[in-house]
Amino acid sequence: MSDWLNQVFCEDALTGLARIPDGSVDLILTDPPYNLGKDYGNASDQQTVEDYLRWTERWIEAALPKLKPNGSLYIFLTWRFSPEIFVMLKKRMTMMNEIIWDRRVPSMGGSVRSYSSVHDTIGFFVGRKDYYFDLDAVRIAYDAETKKARSRSIFIGAKWLEVGYNPKDLWSVSRLHREHPERADHPTQKPLEIIERMLKASCPPDGVVLDLFMGSGTTAIAARRCGRNFVGFELNPEYCAIIQSRLAETDAGALAEPAPLKQRAAVKRAAKPAVKKAAAKKPATKKVAVKKVAAKNVDVKTVVAKPAAKVAAKSVKAASKPRAKAAAKLVAEAAPTVAIESATKPANKAARKPANKAARKPASKTAIKAASKAAIKTPADTPAKRSRRAVKTATAETIA
Ligand SMILES: C[S@@+](CC[C@H](N)C(=O)[O-])C[C@H]1O[C@@H](n2cnc3c(N)ncnc32)[C@H](O)[C@@H]1O
Repeated sequence: MSDWLNQVFCEDALTGLARIPDGSVDLILTDPPYNLGKDYGNASDQQTVEDYLRWTERWIEAALPKLKPNGSLYIFLTWRFSPEIFVMLKKRMTMMNEIIWDRRVPSMGGSVRSYSSVHDTIGFFVGRKDYYFDLDAVRIAYDAETKKARSRSIFIGAKWLEVGYNPKDLWSVSRLHREHPERADHPTQKPLEIIERMLKASCPPDGVVLDLFMGSGTTAIAARRCGRNFVGFELNPEYCAIIQSRLAETDAGALAEPAPLKQRAAVKRAAKPAVKKAAAKKPATKKVAVKKVAAKNVDVKTVVAKPAAKVAAKSVKAASKPRAKAAAKLVAEAAPTVAIESATKPANKAARKPANKAARKPASKTAIKAASKAAIKTPADTPAKRSRRAVKTATAETIA
């Protein structure tokens, strides 16, 4: 067991980095002072612009060798210095995203000579093309309403609908206001939700995350909760104490979360039945759906409602409107709201179709022969005329 892993050292990051061997970290996730004049009990956020940028370049130079070749880096900034700092990083790494964290700041006045700034800018950088990135671990589940609305057959069993969508580069997550249950006594504490998303996506289970500026220790807490290792630094001893107590709380189970491997298994489970379901549904629709409709089975699901309705309507042989309507009604009674619409439409359509088909259906040969014999001959009759008249009569009788 190494003497630097899963520890937050209460010291200057630039000194402390010497503890960490090069190439031993999967992810650098860091939230440095933004140089906006905040009081962290030190002068780190109150430097001249030149000093701040020079200092930033120094710690970047010292930290990057700690990354594994396929590692990544996330850095929290604001619009004030993100342009300069992104350029520094772009010279050394590949920039994948600029993520906007919309802090969900409520409208309460704000700036009067400019627009109120309500977001943080996060840079996501990688070392090389085959960087670690686990999209499935951070997919966002569709809500029930959206899923229901995607009831067209092309969406049935779609993996992405079952496992959720991939996060976009705009993250709307509320900042931690004073009353927030997560809130510790730190002025710029970040929400666990954001840090955990980054960890799950960009640090493998049992991997190592490095945060040079731990503050209240959010990165360490998130790592514990997600089954990752951490290492980091914090200058202010009061914040170091907060980190220890938050870690102890987490270990006591107050903020525990399922192990990452379990989450991954859950995502896989969610994806598999979806594909199976899709395969199972297609051939099942015709017979099963008709049976269900006939038996007024209330188990008809939204996803099968449409094919069921079609089959029900087609199976109404005489295709008279009232019977087709009745079939559609059965489906509608059995299925929830969305199904009602889709069930009614195809039923009416189908009701018209078979009726016309029956009307066009030619009469049988025997019927035509009989009609031909019974036909009254007129002086102007030709064999062709007689034959046409016979077909007409026989067809009319068949329909009747
Ligand atoms: C923006 S805060 C980090 C907040 C943290 N992400 C959280 O969720 O609580 C930056 C922190 O870096 C610390 N800091 C500033 N200069 C430092 C240095 N040279 N070494 C270590 N920590 C430093 C500050 O005391 C401050 O707590």
